[in-house]
Amino acid sequence: MKIKVSEDLNQNSEVLFLGIFEEDKENYQKFSKELANELQKALKEKTFSKKFGEIYSTRLPNLSSKKVIVLGLGNENEFSAEKVRQALGKAVNQTKNYKLTSFSTNIVLLANSLNKINPESLGRAAAEGILLADYSFTKYLAKERQEKKKPLDSVSLQWKSSSTLLTKGIKTGKVIAESTNFVRNLVDEPANVVNSLFLEKVAQKIAADSDKIKLKVLDKMELQKEGLNALLGVNLGSDNSPKLLILEYNGSDKNGYTALVGKGITFDSGGYNLKPTKYIEDMKTDMAGGAVVLGTIKAAAELGLKKNLLGVVPVCENMVSGSAQRPGDIVKAYNGKTIEIGNTDAEGRLILADALAYTEAKYKPEVMIDLATLTGACVIALGYYAAGMVGKDEKLLNELKFAGLESGDKVWELPFFDEYQDWMDGSISDLNNISAKGKGYEAGSITGGVFLSKFVEKAKWVHIDIAGSAYWAVDGDYLRKGATGSGVRVLSYYLLGN
Ligand code: BES
Ligand code: MN
Ligand code: ZN
Repeated sequence: MKIKVSEDLNQNSEVLFLGIFEEDKENYQKFSKELANELQKALKEKTFSKKFGEIYSTRLPNLSSKKVIVLGLGNENEFSAEKVRQALGKAVNQTKNYKLTSFSTNIVLLANSLNKINPESLGRAAAEGILLADYSFTKYLAKERQEKKKPLDSVSLQWKSSSTLLTKGIKTGKVIAESTNFVRNLVDEPANVVNSLFLEKVAQKIAADSDKIKLKVLDKMELQKEGLNALLGVNLGSDNSPKLLILEYNGSDKNGYTALVGKGITFDSGGYNLKPTKYIEDMKTDMAGGAVVLGTIKAAAELGLKKNLLGVVPVCENMVSGSAQRPGDIVKAYNGKTIEIGNTDAEGRLILADALAYTEAKYKPEVMIDLATLTGACVIALGYYAAGMVGKDEKLLNELKFAGLESGDKVWELPFFDEYQDWMDGSISDLNNISAKGKGYEAGSITGGVFLSKFVEKAKWVHIDIAGSAYWAVDGDYLRKGATGSGVRVLSYYLLGN
């Protein structure tokens, strides 16, 4: 798929997408009298309005395009970079529905005329909307069905003469979107393919592709030697070996790391606290946090980010067998704290606990951000359209919130009041992996964060719960049912902006 920039509206592409704001009264009169007449009629008959997302489809005999589509852009004041993503996502989807392979559009140029989104941000948003909408997971489909979902050939964006900033934005957006799609692919792949060895190979490939990345892998023996017992306990029921993957990205001569730590449960059966039907089926996605960490390091290298990063992914499989961990077992984590396994299905926090403590002890990062499909409670609280976050560093929380709003990959802060902070204390151990207070499930996303906080000492830390945002059961404009790669955009925008 190619994204082109051109001064004139490329009328040779198969579909022409023309944006129209509510404030626009010209109705493309100058462009085509015929179109203007049609539009005026449709507006009068109310079969079309200029509300955001409304579509008027026609064909103009004197144009070579097979379709001309006028897309309502809504109110100028409400327009945003996110609406650029959505509008271009809709354009991609429409073009594919018509089984066509290219379109050109003036939407980005129109957005620029509002003078409120800078050209670079427009380029980023446009590339993201287009490339994210163009993704689909088809490798297990027969050829004919693959054909229907195959990527577009090209998109042409109309722009004025100097396109330096726009092109720069497109380049950045392309890297971010392609890394996001790389993550979506990993998350959509089933767990009989994506096991710990597979993820290790993915990390190897990322390291091999950049001279600024080094990979360190702790295998079972080293994990035992170092005492990452909380992580080891989760993997006891699996035939796949546990691993801790550590990617080191050196993009700056300055000291200090930002560590990204991602939950890499390749399948979460729940363990002996087995998940029931309707809850277990999608649990191949429980490595989404880990995949996001790998994808973000890959993006950082491709963007030439001038920062030092760590990408840390504890990889395990939460299975049932004669050797699996039992409810009631007690393990001693890497930092020496003892944990009673109140519930084998609260496994993500166990592997992250060791990963966070180990990363901090060995690398002393200034900032640690963990991402995890940690709690069903987060899906209940926020649905698909935002990840939850907790932490105590106001500045870091605000920077992430801002990056979320800018990128459309939203993260929303949940309260982390003092009253919550002893809810994960154990009765016969330092901690329990489920709350023993109340009914045990209240404020589940927050108490999950409380547990993790006990494994961070000095670093500025934020926990991001992507349980809802990582995998959608519904379609959107530029994301759809299935893996979304949620986390890559917010982290990339955050890292680029700091
Ligand atoms: N991986 C799940 C959380 C999850 C649920 C992710 C739905 C995506 C969609 C996690 O390991 C889990 O099972 N959490 C438990 C925690 C509970 C036992 C304290 C949950 O949410 O029920
Ligand atoms: Mn679980
Ligand atoms: Zn899980």
